[in-house]
Formats: sequence, structure tokens, C-alpha cells
Amino acid sequence: MKTSVVIIGGGPSGLLLSQLLHLAGVESVVLERRTRDYVLSRIRAGVLERGTQDLLDRAEVGARMHGEGLVHDGFNLSFGDALHRIDLAELADRAVMVYGQTEVTKDLYDARDRMGGTILHAVEDVTPYAMTTSSPFVTYRSAGAEHRLNCDFIIGCDGFHGVSRQSIPAEQRREFSRAYPFGWLGVLSETKPAAEELIYAVHEDGFALCSMRNAALSRYYIQCAADEDVAAWSDDRFWSALKRRLPREVAEAMETGPSVKKSIAPLRSYVCETMRYGRLLLAGDAAHIVPPTGAKGLNLAASDIHYLSEALIAWYRDRRADLIDGYEARALARVWKCERFSWWMTSLLHQFPDTSPFDARMRQAELDYLVSSRAAMTALAENYVGLPY
Ligand code: APR
Ligand code: PHB
Repeated sequence: MKTSVVIIGGGPSGLLLSQLLHLAGVESVVLERRTRDYVLSRIRAGVLERGTQDLLDRAEVGARMHGEGLVHDGFNLSFGDALHRIDLAELADRAVMVYGQTEVTKDLYDARDRMGGTILHAVEDVTPYAMTTSSPFVTYRSAGAEHRLNCDFIIGCDGFHGVSRQSIPAEQRREFSRAYPFGWLGVLSETKPAAEELIYAVHEDGFALCSMRNAALSRYYIQCAADEDVAAWSDDRFWSALKRRLPREVAEAMETGPSVKKSIAPLRSYVCETMRYGRLLLAGDAAHIVPPTGAKGLNLAASDIHYLSEALIAWYRDRRADLIDGYEARALARVWKCERFSWWMTSLLHQFPDTSPFDARMRQAELDYLVSSRAAMTALAENYVGLPY
């Protein structure tokens, strides 16, 4: 079997790339390890930058997002029992869209189905070969049978734990990482959101975030120990821990109810600077991870896919190799800025176990400065709505 581009991984990165390539007349096959139901049961962040929205529109998958997504002109920081609004529209001339990543993925699957895209699910042992030649190929197992797929390019969109990055020889990989000494305990509940806009709350018990999916579905997170057992968190324990971390007025008015889902995620920053190995190119979580503070994960995957789709389309349309050659540098320039922003927001808003009294005062001064200086708020707003591509 032969195709132009083999895409390993059917998460948002892989699906978006296959959709953009299809619209430009470039053939691809997506190989996904899991079932579609499994992929669509994963809950991830839900704030889309304008650049991501525009890219989804270009990929012809933006209609439901525009109909059901919530346009947010601002968000709140909370500390010292008060909310401090960051007016994104006023400071950065842009809004963000609150629309769950699971919905984005569903819209992409629907579009690929409509257009007859090839996505193979539940494939095992996907292995890339001959990446440094002009005839790479991938082998995989499906329904017990071995297959080989020849192609021009292999694109690694298989997330942090995927096979693609691991296929680059270790001595060729330049990797940078930071693990944070805490996790996020996340709850989805069929309750009215605590506020109209998101609240990022700083509290001595730990960080908390009030987010939402729609007018009747809320998404909340609290900072917890990295090795916390989710079974130790009853709904009651969760709600009372969350309320303690919010301004009294917000906590008192908050609607609570049974959780629909509850899970714990670690926080990590990670970049593999080597995003290309011959005819293998990496995109999205396969190449970099950000902590979820600021919701940059999907948005960063989208900018990679923007650069990569342009590069591949230029190759097939005009036989141009320069954009393929320039992909890594172009993508990394934006990746590092978003890594910095996610690291900064995480560092500012969370409690760290080794904070000295001096560090605590520095943090308080930074928060006070942030909400009283238009320049500081503008820097926050411009990063939050998304840096240009
Ligand atoms: N073979 C085939 N598929 C694989 C393999 C493999 N060896 N390993 C992983 N996959 C699949 C996973 O099952 C998953 O569906 O690759 C997909 C990767 O999807 P994501 O992890 O969602 O990564 P990405 O598409 O880059 O999306 C980035 O999603 O993970 C969030 O926080 C992240 O918001 C960011 C965005
Ligand atoms: C979410 O809604 O899941 C969400 C929102 C904002 C974040 C992280 C997660 O910064």
C-alpha cells in the first residue's frame, strides 16, 4: 500500500493535518492506536485562541464551534478574596473561544468521515522505517495481520507517549523538561458555571480554576499533590476544597452537584528541539508539553499544524522543500514563547512546597503589580489570546 503522508496518531493534531492536506488535494492515512470511542472520551482543556479558530475554519470544521462555543472577552484572576478582571478585548483586541477539545476532535472526525478520509483505528505496533531515505515506510498490525504502508513523509502526531519521537535516535534528540511538584484534580459536573468567565484562583491551599463547557456544564480544577489518589476525593471533599480557594461571594453562590468525571493529571513542561529526522516530522504533544495553566496545549498543536500543512502543501504543489527545511525553526520559535508563558502562569498561580517567606512576598508583589499595571496586564492578555503565527 502507498500514500503520500502517513500520520501517526488520531488526536487533534493528526486529524487537523489530514483534513488540511485533503482540502489541498494531498492524500494521507491516519494510524490511531485507540478506538474512536476512547479518543472521544478524553477530556482536555477548552480555550481556543483566534489563530486556532481561524485554522479550524480554514479546515472547514468551525461551524459547530461558532454555534455552540462561548466567546469570552476576558477572564478573572482571584486572590485576596477578590476577583481582578483581565479584559482581553480591551487589552489585546481579541477574545478567546471556550469550546472543549473533545468537541474539536469530534468535529474533525465528522469532517474526515464526510470527505472519505482514511483513519485506521485500533492499529498496533506502528513502527516508522527508512526515515532518512526518500522512501520511508511504516509497518503496523491491524486485526491480527501485518501491514506495510509506503509514503513520502511520516508525521508524528502521536502525543507525548507515542512511538514517533522515540524513533529518533537518542543521540540526535535535544530534550528539555521540567516536572512540577503537584498535579491538577479535575471535575466535570452538570452544574451552572460559577461565573460567566473563567476564574484562575491563587490561594494558600493551592491553585484553583473555574471553567466551563456550556451554560449547564462546569469544569473545575484544584491543585493537588502529584501522587494524590483520586479515590481519596469524594465529591464533598472536592467542593469544599474548591470553595475555600475562591472569593467568598463566588463560593457562596456556586452550584454544586455530583461529578460526572474526576481525574488527576500531572503538570510538566517539555520540549524536544529535534522536530525533524529526515522524512519524519513531529507536531503537537509528540514534540512538546505545556502545563495546562493558560490552556496552550491544543493551541500550540494547532500552530505546528499550520506551519507543517503549509510546508507539505508547498512540497506537493510547487516541489518546494524550503518550508519543510524551515519547519522546525519556525515551529520552535513559537513553542518556546508559549512554553515560557505556560511556565510563568503556572509558577505565579500555584503553591510550591519549597516557597520561602521571601518568595511568597515576591509573588504577592507580582500579583499586585499585574492587576494594577496596564503594561503588565497587556503582556498577560496578549499571550493569553495567542501570539501571532
Ligand atoms: N500509534 C498510533 N497512535 C498513537 C500511538 C502509537 N504508537 N501512540 C499514541 N497514539 C495516539 C493516541 O492514542 C492519541 O489519540 O496519538 C494520539 C495523540 O493525541 P494527543 O495526545 O491528543 O496529542 P495531539 O493530537 O498532539 O494534541 C495536542 O491534545 O493532548 C492534548 O494537551 C494536548 O491539548 C493538547 C493537544
Ligand atoms: C478547561 O476548561 O479545561 C481549561 C480552561 C483553561 C485552562 C485549562 C483548562 O487554563
